[in-house]
Amino acid sequence: MAADETAGLVVIGGSHAGHQVAIAARGAGFEGPITVLSDERELPYQRPPLSKAYLMGKQPREALLFRPAGFYEDQGIDMRLGVAATTIDRAGHTVTCDNGTVLPYRKLVIATGTRVRPLTVPGAELGGVHYIRTLSDIDAIMAELDRVKSVVVIGGGFIGLEGAAALKTMGRDVAVVELADRLMARGVGKTVSGYFADHHREQGIDLRLSTGVESLAGENGHVTGVVLGGGEVLAADLVIVGIGVLPNQEIAAEAGIDCANGIIVDQFTQTNDPDILAVGDCAQFEGRFYDGPLRLESVQNATDQARTAGATVAGEKKPYDAAPWFWSDQFDLKLQMTGITAGYDKEIIRGDVAAGEFSVFYFKGDKWLGTDTVNQPSNHIASRRLLDAGYALTQAEAGDEGLALKELVKAARKAG
Ligand code: APR
Repeated sequence: MAADETAGLVVIGGSHAGHQVAIAARGAGFEGPITVLSDERELPYQRPPLSKAYLMGKQPREALLFRPAGFYEDQGIDMRLGVAATTIDRAGHTVTCDNGTVLPYRKLVIATGTRVRPLTVPGAELGGVHYIRTLSDIDAIMAELDRVKSVVVIGGGFIGLEGAAALKTMGRDVAVVELADRLMARGVGKTVSGYFADHHREQGIDLRLSTGVESLAGENGHVTGVVLGGGEVLAADLVIVGIGVLPNQEIAAEAGIDCANGIIVDQFTQTNDPDILAVGDCAQFEGRFYDGPLRLESVQNATDQARTAGATVAGEKKPYDAAPWFWSDQFDLKLQMTGITAGYDKEIIRGDVAAGEFSVFYFKGDKWLGTDTVNQPSNHIASRRLLDAGYALTQAEAGDEGLALKELVKAARKAG
């Protein structure tokens, strides 16, 4: 059955990517009805502050919202909160929701994001064991904080380390248990991992690398400790689990949409069904910044793919082709990353690692893959611009402290 021409755009998911698709579609001239389904009860809000300023009580709840309710009304965007889509009928062009509603669509965008990877060891269901993903996760942590002295964070990735830094700054005893032999191994190279490990230890974090968790100990249904692989027990009245996320792709897969590690989309964010698109953390794509399929968990990817999807549903062709970038704030360190640097074989360093102000340029053979910077934001911005411009930075240029990257950006722009 063809799409009902009076049906509009339905977006499944109301986070960074989902709300931005609706805004971008309207902005690109999409005239039909737009409905956003979100299984969370909040209007779309920013997630990055959850593990930082919001957790520390430094950012009020209202300041997390992207837009006030009236904005969506003015734009003719019907935000349906607390409603989950359950199935997609591609032949009938409808989406069924958990409240029984059946919504017709002309175009459907899946922006379902990710869910936390659950800890599965014995004791994982005890009270006091928390994740950091949604506003309600953080509210639950904050509600307990007054009586918390010792925290164990399981997972030394971005979320775990940001949470650890926030809670240490708030005066708690904090330990971090990481299975791999270095921190944030999925995202950064060895020098950055090592620097962050030293810094967290200097700040008083009890950091355990190459360490697994056997079980969680508890009393009266509440966690009291984390039992490590070797049998040692770390005391904990609060446990934060940050061991990665999984893409919410089941609704697509069950409807016969091609999925791998994410819902597979092209450069216009279209799936194998021309009326269905996918964006953000749940989408897998290929592009010029990595040799192979990618699924990115980042604000940049969510926002830029959403803009492309908004244009696509409005009938414009605006390929998604932005250099990936990420950031993480831990204590006084601003870590910024651009490019996809996995698989690098050489690091070239500028700046002073010991002083906590440096940049690492990653190469695979002669090919520059991307840059991580610590408290050197101008090198981050310049690296992003050079990647976007397709500039082939050489190892000699990367290592030449006297060569300002912004001069290369100017030259690349003139040449381009
Ligand atoms: N015990 C200890 N550590 C573990 C275990 C385990 N059982 N399983 C996995 N880990 C470690 C991994 O080795 C990795 O270092 O947990 C870390 C998870 O890091 P990420 O994959 O970066 O995921 P996370 O930190 O949870 O962040 C999830 O949220 O804000 C975003 O950018 C962030 O996209 C990321 C997502």
